[in-house]
Amino acid sequence: MADQIVDSIQNAREYLDSLEIESRLLGAEKPSARFEFLGLSFDTPIMTAALSHIDLVGMAEGARLAGAPVCIGMGDNETLENVLNTGAKVVKIIKPYADRDEIYDRMRYAKQRGAIAVGVDIEHSLKSDSPEDDVVLGRRMKLPSMQELNAFVRDAGLPFFIKGVLSAQDAVRCVKLGCAGAILSHHNGIMRCAVPPVRLLPSVRRAVGDRLLLIADGGIESGYDAFKALALGADAVSVGRPLMPPLKEKGAQGVKEVLETMTRQLEIMLYRTGSRDIRHIDPSVIWEKGRRTGD
Ligand SMILES: Cc1cc2nc3c(=O)[nH]c(=O)nc-3n(C[C@H](O)[C@H](O)[C@H](O)COP(=O)(O)O)c2cc1C
Repeated sequence: MADQIVDSIQNAREYLDSLEIESRLLGAEKPSARFEFLGLSFDTPIMTAALSHIDLVGMAEGARLAGAPVCIGMGDNETLENVLNTGAKVVKIIKPYADRDEIYDRMRYAKQRGAIAVGVDIEHSLKSDSPEDDVVLGRRMKLPSMQELNAFVRDAGLPFFIKGVLSAQDAVRCVKLGCAGAILSHHNGIMRCAVPPVRLLPSVRRAVGDRLLLIADGGIESGYDAFKALALGADAVSVGRPLMPPLKEKGAQGVKEVLETMTRQLEIMLYRTGSRDIRHIDPSVIWEKGRRTGD
């Protein structure tokens, strides 16, 4: 049997590699990569992915130093508090615990302690290879119903994100639920044979217009990748695995350096395409396999 776990990760990477960028340098002026997000202003739209089981405090501190928002995944309330104490602006992604009270408790805690948004990673509700609820560190997960999601969104008291959206249909549902945003992600291949999140961006953007913030993750390794995602409709990207070795080797400083390098790469691509900022990128600068996207 083919190792399909690699497929979704590899597909996402190969798709990014298949995209090319044309130059529109004449008349271009120095651009800005600043990112306005949930009423706050950041130096970059390249944020950390919702990671866990790593030094989340070091990751958050590195992102804060780079002027980036932070997404964090699983972890106890004490860890969240330590992460927030770094001064980072944090989107807390909560597991889809079958015990819904736990979701409410964690949302409440995140709000009290100053997170800027919360969300649930619905893609982790199910096992990868059988139609059963997943179990994470001994805790049972369960896909929330639309009614339950609606109640989470209403109760959160913070902008709410659904992570694991991989279709225009689900994105439209997020809008109907009153979500602030969606994170397009297959969570490292939890969803087998997944369409690469960046490939979905144009259709998702067409479906939701500006009614939903879109963050894409999965294989973003450079500012060039980030540019491609932003050009195709993302408001921001999140980066997970590429931050892990630098975090281990150099702590917060390592994360800061990677995010700043990626931001410089994004800025040069904005400049070379005549895009004055991240909200003014003409998607037609992106070519796919020798054809302009949209042709
Ligand atoms: C070590 C590790 C832990 C993760 N933990 C979580 C988590 O707790 N919650 C979540 O929503 N996603 C989690 N993810 C998935 C990431 O948020 C992200 O979707 C994925 O890593 C794809 O991005 P990347 O290709 O940049 O790594 C985790 C990923 C890794 C590698």
